[in-house]
Amino acid sequence: MENLISLVNKLQRACTALGDHGEGSSLPTLWDSLPAIAVVGGQSSGKSSVLESIVGKDFLPRGSGIVTRRPLVLQLHKIDEGREYAEFLHLPRKRFTDFALVRKEISDETDRETGRTKQISSVPIHLSIYSPNVVNLTLIDLPGLTKVAVEGQPDSIVGDIENMVRSYIEKPNCIILAISPANQDLATSDAIKVSREVDPKGERTFGVLTKIDLMDKGTDAVDILEGKAYRLQYPWIGVVNRSQQDINKNVDMIAARRRERDYFGNSPDYKHLAHRMGSEHLGKMLSKHLETVIKSRIPGIQSLISKSIAELESELNRLGKPIAADAGGKLYMIMEICRIFDQNYKEHLDGIRPGGDKI
Ligand code: GDP
Ligand code: NA
Ligand code: MG
Repeated sequence: MENLISLVNKLQRACTALGDHGEGSSLPTLWDSLPAIAVVGGQSSGKSSVLESIVGKDFLPRGSGIVTRRPLVLQLHKIDEGREYAEFLHLPRKRFTDFALVRKEISDETDRETGRTKQISSVPIHLSIYSPNVVNLTLIDLPGLTKVAVEGQPDSIVGDIENMVRSYIEKPNCIILAISPANQDLATSDAIKVSREVDPKGERTFGVLTKIDLMDKGTDAVDILEGKAYRLQYPWIGVVNRSQQDINKNVDMIAARRRERDYFGNSPDYKHLAHRMGSEHLGKMLSKHLETVIKSRIPGIQSLISKSIAELESELNRLGKPIAADAGGKLYMIMEICRIFDQNYKEHLDGIRPGGDKI
């Protein structure tokens, strides 16, 4: 039995790979109906660091200023055993086992699209990571929100980034990971501002508080973490990522996680919250949440898939034989995945009424 999230991951990838061939069909609608998690927040609030902690690997360009300049669609696939590796959609036959090279490829591929300037582009980079140590998730890293353009950037960049971020998070299927740094006033948080706009009741927003270790002495984040400062439907999660100094000193992820656990577990302020703090908890919680959301959407996804299968079949007939190997191959691939979904989804319907409401 295929894991539900991994099946949806494959569908998402297939829809993307199909690209132009899917135009005019139900596939773009299908892609939009599949839930994903987008990471939003101000520049240097810790978005990329949070993503890395969830994955448990160093692989993202990080640092001060605008580093993330294209959306990164990151699919995590849990494998049973074996060595972890990464693959880019734009380099289909290349397996990366050195994650420093993954980071370099993200930078290079960003530059290829935007030039070596500080421009941004809304064309996403697609990256898949296969590892025994990840939970099945689709995460989207977005350029950081900013209030001013810097040297070499057009003034329009502030609005352009905001519009790009909004185009992802306004979709009702998008789960928002709103990142706010604890060493700034929550009232000025870009993440809260933009997520409140598209999700005023906080029904699909998860508040993540970073840089708790950098708060002024004598202040703490208990009010925020207990949901008293800004209420969301889901509990806030605090994290302590690696500092720039840690990164420069190559503090590894395992050591960083241990230190994060100790930080919450040993602090008199946060001890009572420690069980629901930290990156590891965040990853597990998101995976569980994603699965619940997918289950509740199965009936809708299912009917779109049936429609897509029918459309793909007629498209294949129309193309006739011989069909372009590339286009035909991709159409077959997505049809196969749709069929697997079609055959398997019923087993996941336990606890769901027809019509999609959860019991
Ligand atoms: P992004 O621009 O939102 O993607 O932010 P990054 O993840 O690139 O982080 C920006 C900087 O803040 C980096 O130098 C990180 O090391 C640092 N940073 C992020 N989170 C934390 C944290 O929880 N504690 C500390 N001390 N530094 C952090
Ligand atoms: Na940054
Ligand atoms: Mg970043």
